Amino acid sequence: MIIINSSSDIARIREAGRIIAGLWEVLKNSVAPGISTLELDSLACDHIQQQGGECAFRGYRGYPANLCVSINHEVVHGIPRADRKLKSGDLVGIDVGVRKAGFIADAARSYLVGASPSPEALKLMAVARQSLELGIEQARAGHKVTDISKAVQRTAENAGFSVVRELCGHGVGASLHQEPEIPNYFRPGHSPVLKAGMSLAVEPMINAGGAEVKFLSDGWTVVTRDGSLSAHFEDTVIVTDGDPDIVTR
Ligand code: MF3
Ligand code: CO
Repeated sequence: MIIINSSSDIARIREAGRIIAGLWEVLKNSVAPGISTLELDSLACDHIQQQGGECAFRGYRGYPANLCVSINHEVVHGIPRADRKLKSGDLVGIDVGVRKAGFIADAARSYLVGASPSPEALKLMAVARQSLELGIEQARAGHKVTDISKAVQRTAENAGFSVVRELCGHGVGASLHQEPEIPNYFRPGHSPVLKAGMSLAVEPMINAGGAEVKFLSDGWTVVTRDGSLSAHFEDTVIVTDGDPDIVTR
């Protein structure tokens, strides 16, 4: 069953999203060569708590941190560590969930570290970002989940990149992961119709090389099988009778 949020629940998701929107300002000034992924994690948690939110990832299925920080060929779910420092030229994805008054928003941004990114990293960033924009654009009452999936896939594949299939976007709000599942590629079969009041985390994970991924032995980190770069962008969106309402910007 896909939850239709009441207007007071939407207000809570929006509050959680507003905290994430402010966090991007903090993080974009902190992402630099030499900072460790654990330092980013504690900066983020401090900000979230100062703003009256809770870090929603810690403890989720035993996840041991507040952020997921995934560098270069790491796709998602990298665990912050004191001995993992950003280097110039890295492409780093930062994923965060915030809970406010029992409701969650979930979002991710990718950043390029330092002043001289590779042309491939620049293009991958732009395409992944665009795939999120065009996916969200489809999050409208009366559309289907597959409209989001197709828009993401088309954007990535037209640019010569591939979309990860093992992980999907999802409903978010009363819990971190709830229905519907939102694949980033077209999957034939039944697809739910979107309705006003649904809250969705749209999250393309785009690889420069092949779509295949593997899971590392830490139980969390997902990496590209061929070692190619990967970028991840995510926003939480409320479906309305008009335009998509993005709460994490
Ligand atoms: N945005 C991520 C996702 O939807 C959340 C990370 S899961 C956690 O998969 F376990 F790290 F919390
Ligand atoms: Co998510």
